[in-house]
Amino acid sequence: MIPLQTPGGPAPSPFSPEQQSRFDADFGRAVAKYAADHRRAALLPVLHLAQDLLGWLTEPAMAYVGFRLDIPKVRVREVASFYTMYRLKPVGRHAIGVCNSVSCWAMGSEQIIKRCEEKLGIRSGETTRDGQFSLEEVACLAACGYAPAVLVNNYRYVENVTPQSLDSLIEELRAKPGNSMAPAPEPKKLEINRGQGEAPRQTEPQTTGPSGATSVQTSGGK
Ligand code: FES
Repeated sequence: MIPLQTPGGPAPSPFSPEQQSRFDADFGRAVAKYAADHRRAALLPVLHLAQDLLGWLTEPAMAYVGFRLDIPKVRVREVASFYTMYRLKPVGRHAIGVCNSVSCWAMGSEQIIKRCEEKLGIRSGETTRDGQFSLEEVACLAACGYAPAVLVNNYRYVENVTPQSLDSLIEELRAKPGNSMAPAPEPKKLEINRGQGEAPRQTEPQTTGPSGATSVQTSGGK
């Protein structure tokens, strides 16, 4: 077992210059929230920064995060592989996560997942051949009161989802350009559409538990 105090070794940056400047700025803000001798506590948000920029957590990205936080790469990987919101393999440009925890399940998430699978021609956990869509079942998105809920690319909530609104969502996403996972939604801003007639609500970014999803945007209700 590698002691937690073992520092991470030097690792090259996996980012482009433009990504690097964004990472550095957000890294500084993330680390500043913790005491100087507890900077490793920023691991979760910093992993999200890397994932947002790259679309998923590559091995070089995890090594680099460990390097910046003085955490062994193996420790970074342990954390990243524990939380389902971290992606350890590439996903489609539009990564759709359908909550299938109890509230959403009770409100018909199984039907939403089935519709998604039919519409995209893939099963949960798969990516379409053109790389445009990935589908996965996810655990509670903290939107239980507006179940069933869907999360797109970690930052866009769609609530009160119906098969019809799901069709509209997929068509909307299909019309958007891009051949790879969105590099990162920016700036992070929360937009929630409760669907079924309620007006969209916007609030400041929030943390939603271990996922660290801090901002969302929706266009549901179609
Ligand atoms: S059960 Fe789906 S958001 Fe909580």
